[in-house]
Amino acid sequence: MLRRRIKSLIGLDIGSKTIKAVELTREGHGFVMTGYGQTEFASEEQRPDAILEVLRENSFHTKRVVTSVYGKSVIVRYLSMTRMPEEDLRNAIRYEADKYIPFDVEDVVMDSQALPDDQFHEASENEMRVLLVAVKKALIEDHVSLLHGLGLQPTIIDVDSFAVGNAFELSRGGSFYEEDSDRAIALLDIGANKTNINIFCGGTSYFTREIYLAGDDFTHAIGKRLGLDVDSAEHRKREPGEHPEEVMEAVMPSFDDLANEILLSFDYFENQFDREVEEVYLSGGGARMTGIDDALERTLSRPTHRWDPTEGIEVHEGTVDSEIVQYNAGQLAVAIGLASRVQEL
Ligand SMILES: Nc1ncnc2c1ncn2[C@@H]1O[C@H](COP(=O)(O)OP(=O)(O)OP(=O)(O)O)[C@@H](O)[C@H]1O
Ligand SMILES: [Mg+2]
Repeated sequence: MLRRRIKSLIGLDIGSKTIKAVELTREGHGFVMTGYGQTEFASEEQRPDAILEVLRENSFHTKRVVTSVYGKSVIVRYLSMTRMPEEDLRNAIRYEADKYIPFDVEDVVMDSQALPDDQFHEASENEMRVLLVAVKKALIEDHVSLLHGLGLQPTIIDVDSFAVGNAFELSRGGSFYEEDSDRAIALLDIGANKTNINIFCGGTSYFTREIYLAGDDFTHAIGKRLGLDVDSAEHRKREPGEHPEEVMEAVMPSFDDLANEILLSFDYFENQFDREVEEVYLSGGGARMTGIDDALERTLSRPTHRWDPTEGIEVHEGTVDSEIVQYNAGQLAVAIGLASRVQEL
């Protein structure tokens, strides 16, 4: 008898502070969340155990994982190249890679993809937009050996900021882009160590960058200002208690620094494409701070809101506690975006 192959994937977001794992299973045209877990860890050495803990203590049905890499060993470039068939693209890029990548070509793994034409400039017959991603081989090797060592099967390795874009697309449905195809929006994922910016328009990414300022910097600012150790500052950040204004005052300079960095990226995009970033969407644990949405909205002068990456995803009640998922939803953008690649199986 033929057994229907169940198609599931775990999106494993190995953050610098929190491991998040979301398993999505294809059902008809949609997805069901059939597994979920997350845990925080204190130091790099504890990361493998934290991953094992998340996977062991929650029910997952597959060992196939999609993970992502980030940081300074990951280079993303948007190129304009002479139009050519996709099969020729790789060779052409490899040939001139040293123009685009600050590393030795022998030391990186590269992937490229033709993008839809730029909506902002007159499309040229002879030019095409190309996305180039180059990742240091050493980073991929470390990453894969960590996963194999834990008995997992790495299926796809993605990049954090693209995963956030995929999750956004999934939660909004394709119609968001069709209706608003010429609106540029910015997705900001504020983690523990870094904030990812991804400027999107019509379902494609036009700009991405990492800013090394995020949730843990807010904690340090609180600790310094209020004379608290890291654990107490972390606690105060999450539950400001009777004097929330003290906490706000402590973190405001960090919010401003972050917003100013983001504005530099908006300026760059707006100059290049002659188009304004109209709206800002926040995810990531760092975006859970009370008041960060209003503070960023003031400095960025654009409507700024948190969004829910779990919207539209049915939760399998037998295996996943939907209340906990709901509580942590904003932190799951990367994990959900990674798991959404189950569509490709
Ligand atoms: N309830 C909360 N209120 C405020 N901040 C929170 C809350 N919960 C978590 N955080 C903060 O969110 C951050 C962790 O977020 P997240 O899980 O998105 O980061 P990460 O993916 O591990 O890190 P990175 O993406 O930088 O590698 C930490 O700085 C943590 O203090
Ligand atoms: Mg993260």
